[in-house]
Amino acid sequence: MKLPENEVFSSKDSDYKWIVRKFDKKDYSVSEKMFSMDVARTARKFHRQIPGYKTSPLVSLPHLSSMLGVDSIWIKNEAMRLELNSFKVMGGSFAVYRLIQKKLGLSDDEMSYEYLMSKECKKALGEMVFASATDGNHGKGLAWITNKLGYKCNIYVHSGTSKPRIKAIENYGAKVKVVKGNYDDAVRACQEDADKNGWQVVSDTSWPGYTEIPTWIMQGYNTMLLEAQEQFSSQGIVRPTHVFVQAGVGAMAASVIGFYSALFKEDSPKFVVVEPENAACLYETALANDGECHSVKGDLDTIMAGLACGDPSPIAWEILGRQADIFIRVPDYIAARGMRILATPIADDPFVISGESGAAGLGAFYGIMSEVADKKAQTYIGKLKEQLEINGDSKVLFINTEGNTDPISFRQIIWDGMNPVPEKFWTER
Ligand SMILES: Cc1ncc(COP(=O)(O)O)c(C=O)c1O
Repeated sequence: MKLPENEVFSSKDSDYKWIVRKFDKKDYSVSEKMFSMDVARTARKFHRQIPGYKTSPLVSLPHLSSMLGVDSIWIKNEAMRLELNSFKVMGGSFAVYRLIQKKLGLSDDEMSYEYLMSKECKKALGEMVFASATDGNHGKGLAWITNKLGYKCNIYVHSGTSKPRIKAIENYGAKVKVVKGNYDDAVRACQEDADKNGWQVVSDTSWPGYTEIPTWIMQGYNTMLLEAQEQFSSQGIVRPTHVFVQAGVGAMAASVIGFYSALFKEDSPKFVVVEPENAACLYETALANDGECHSVKGDLDTIMAGLACGDPSPIAWEILGRQADIFIRVPDYIAARGMRILATPIADDPFVISGESGAAGLGAFYGIMSEVADKKAQTYIGKLKEQLEINGDSKVLFINTEGNTDPISFRQIIWDGMNPVPEKFWTER
């Protein structure tokens, strides 16, 4: 992969650190290969057959847009996805579809949700047990689809996972195993146990030698983008000018960025990847700029539970390394403020229920676009605003990747004011 030059911004005056990447020319070949329109349509066709499927809303926040000086702010609201409060099921379900298809040697025309539910399919497949590690949402999505299809499922979580997240997975019949350590330890423990017991791992992250299933998962997420593009078209909008995507292992960000890059190439939006400062493995990978993935160790302490990942997904980096324009790492209160902004909108802008990981992108954007009291901080963050090339014509897309998936934490943040913004960074106007 030809690496772009980096410009790195880090100052004690700012709560943001960021990297601007300067490409001579972007290489779209991997995005085109991984994210063809045909595959996106196949995923969408399958998702449409799932009972309860509806296009998730794409909401516009006109008052917030005019306050921040952009043309429009769009939130693809995945909190409304099926009954699951998160986009993650789109990936896990499509991977299960592809896996069964491959095992049985069937074509897309022979596959359907109805067939997957049939006795005939189960008989042909025999006993199958699925497994995955999770930060919460992927495990819930996999438990949900395997439960619907009538298969057993084992989900591995790390010891910092909240009780409501564990309960939500168990509610769909999966067995949950708590592993000492962080998300990456849970990934390894799941793989070891699956090897011993002959379980089928459906992981959203990849590692050397394990890439096919995580690729299907990223392709499954494309349903959201196909929907979003239809929703933009119905508003007379060809594409957003900027896309902010939050990242854990980077699979969701790569799916979004790969989809838009394959579709629009040089006319793609500007892509901004946002991570928690204590789990910024993609930022570290971009910073090292040596073509290798770089991990972040430790307990990855952040309220953004879905983004608390220390090892990047190598296949996601194949896309992000070639296409992402800016990597940003932010403190937790940025996500908390994003949640509060979405839950308490201006005038008649619609309100959006967003969880910690879901609000990270909008929270990061607000911190760049609003003016803060501290002059040094304002001057410093102003550079990022310039680099983003944001103006009154900008149409900015965010994906609210989850609703209140942890209702207790949601109340603590929104009602009790947990994770307050330090006074230095309060909005001046
Ligand atoms: C709500 C939410 N948003 C974003 C992400 C990030 O996805 P990825 O790990 O693919 O980067 C996750 C991952 O679990 C998540 O749960």
